[in-house]
Amino acid sequence: MRLDVFVSPREISPGELQGRVVAVIDVLRASTSIAVALDNGARSVIPVESAEAAIATSKQFEGVQVRLAGERKMRVIPGFDMGNSPTEFTEEAIAGCIVITTTTNGTAALLSLQGATDVVVASYVNYSVVAAMLRAAARSDVDISIVCAGTEGHFSLEDAACAGKYVRSIGGGAGSITANDAARACALIDRKYGDNIAKIFEDSTHGKALAEAGFGADLVFCAAVDSHPVVPIYQERQITRVGPARER
Ligand code: MLT
Repeated sequence: MRLDVFVSPREISPGELQGRVVAVIDVLRASTSIAVALDNGARSVIPVESAEAAIATSKQFEGVQVRLAGERKMRVIPGFDMGNSPTEFTEEAIAGCIVITTTTNGTAALLSLQGATDVVVASYVNYSVVAAMLRAAARSDVDISIVCAGTEGHFSLEDAACAGKYVRSIGGGAGSITANDAARACALIDRKYGDNIAKIFEDSTHGKALAEAGFGADLVFCAAVDSHPVVPIYQERQITRVGPARER
């Protein structure tokens, strides 16, 4: 089977994800926030491309509690209930609600995927459960693509490092798995940093920008491996968790 990493959605050719299991990663911070929202009881998360689309989509859900979330240039969108900081997606804020979110790179990456069999939202906070799902796909000989949201079409260190951690867990490059060059490079990045995820964020452009903008606490939150063990599946334009909700 094939295991490919794309360091940006812009690398994907039409039809390339057909029949594949796809993991989407935007560690800082969209994929982390989505996992946290679902673990804290959101009914679903709906990614949309713009603030206007978020408002229009919210109107389809009369009688249901909806939260508008998202960022531009890291800051909450004016008039929205919350930004894109995972610390905002508390049980009190979102349990039982539909979260409609728009972010610069993460939701754009999700919206760009077409033809995949299953799309799972991956990060460090839900690493082990998502890695187990991807290993099961590999055992069934299903091709896997890991799509990094990146930054406005470019490589980002934190997404590549996280992708590498998944590649190593799946066993990319070993046995019957054929990994592309990006998958091999990402595995090397993960091996270089080991468990020091804080250092990855310290070295990355977006990690530095978040720290400078006062979101240092988010970096700690996003580095907490397995703190929110949910498998978020993106299907029919919404993301829901697989399996029962956590006991509260
Ligand atoms: C994005 O989607 O570009 C990010 O998650 C940006 C952020 O909020 O840090």
